[in-house]
Amino acid sequence: MRIVVGVGGGIAAYKACALVRRFTETGHQVRVIPTESALQFVGKATFEALSGQPVSTSVFTDVPEVPHVRIGQEADLVVIAPATADLMARAAQGRADDLLTATLLTARCPVLFAPAMHTEMWEHPATVANVATLRAHGATVMEPASGRLTGTDTGPGRLPEPEEIFGLASLLLERPDALPRDLEGRRVIITAGGTREPLDPVRFLGNRSSGKQGYALARVAAQRGASVTLIAGNTVELAPPAAVDLVHITTAEQLATAVDKHAVGADAVIMAAAVADFRPTNVAAAKIKKGANEPDVIPLTKNPDILAGLVTARTEGRLGDTAIVGFAAETGDENGDVLTHARAKLARKGCDLLVVNAVGEGKAFEVDTNDGWLLGADGTESALDHGSKALLASRVLDALIPLLH
Ligand SMILES: Cc1cc2nc3c(=O)[nH]c(=O)nc-3n(C[C@H](O)[C@H](O)[C@H](O)COP(=O)(O)O)c2cc1C
Repeated sequence: MRIVVGVGGGIAAYKACALVRRFTETGHQVRVIPTESALQFVGKATFEALSGQPVSTSVFTDVPEVPHVRIGQEADLVVIAPATADLMARAAQGRADDLLTATLLTARCPVLFAPAMHTEMWEHPATVANVATLRAHGATVMEPASGRLTGTDTGPGRLPEPEEIFGLASLLLERPDALPRDLEGRRVIITAGGTREPLDPVRFLGNRSSGKQGYALARVAAQRGASVTLIAGNTVELAPPAAVDLVHITTAEQLATAVDKHAVGADAVIMAAAVADFRPTNVAAAKIKKGANEPDVIPLTKNPDILAGLVTARTEGRLGDTAIVGFAAETGDENGDVLTHARAKLARKGCDLLVVNAVGEGKAFEVDTNDGWLLGADGTESALDHGSKALLASRVLDALIPLLH
């Protein structure tokens, strides 16, 4: 695909280099268009070497090729990272006073802005209005991350990590309409990753959940405008999604407590975490050793059923009108195939939607792609096509929207 990476004149311009690399490594053709200010931060030679393409900031370079029209027309995606306050102001006004803004006017492909600026600049009414205008024009403007800004300041306005920008850009390539702002004003709780049930100070019962699907849901929901709390168990090394409140837990009981605390009054709870059904009944204070006292069996105790508990809490009026989405990682067996087990689980748990994944043989766990089925309490069933976990997240959120009160 042809990707234009536009770079604004902010301190985070150096992170655009990692983004360009990510696109070229994955086989895309990249054209970098910095602004004149961006070249104060990163040299033209760096962008030329990384992209393998000439770099210019002006509409007056290479005039017979009419780059100010052609580059935008031919692009499959334009990503602006970092999008400075000034660059977004110029883009919102439809200015075309350099190659990048001219390209933005001629592009008819998805456009993704990844803003980066001080919190005061991000929250200024002028910037807020410009972001709204860009969104009204059809662009996706990411929520920035919170954290350390230039100098010692912290707050919202930090550029989301290049990997996160790359993930959302890839999602827009898979599905250009994956990020509407249809969750604005909604509070969504998402659980992710696997729980760990301790046996002794060094051992635990765990599972193979990587957390990637739950993180993708959190990321996509936040970028669709939701206020997201992500309750995460053990995950592979995943970067915290931008603009998401992250709560870490270890055991199923801690997960249940965190869900109880955050779910009350939420618009939706999405239970993507892989929760242990059982925990060791006794947790040894010291490491269990081989020898005379070694155990023959490890007694297990049933953990609380968090999904069923949420449905009961809603029925008893302790939750609110919260929509509840469950996940089922199933394998077929002698009693039935994946869908048969999943239908039974949906009926047993009483949630509104059940996302079903067939697991095993390198599917679902740890990998970056997923597929499955979506079962509704109203009897609807649809296939979730194979694609990135972000794509599956966007389809699940589409199905959630009509269930929100
Ligand atoms: C050291 C330094 C860091 C800057 N960082 C940012 C930034 O992160 N975000 C921003 O909006 N402006 C930042 N600015 C201000 C922009 O450089 C300035 O508004 C410029 O006109 C933006 O040009 P552009 O439209 O080409 O992005 C910074 C300026 C300096 C000197």
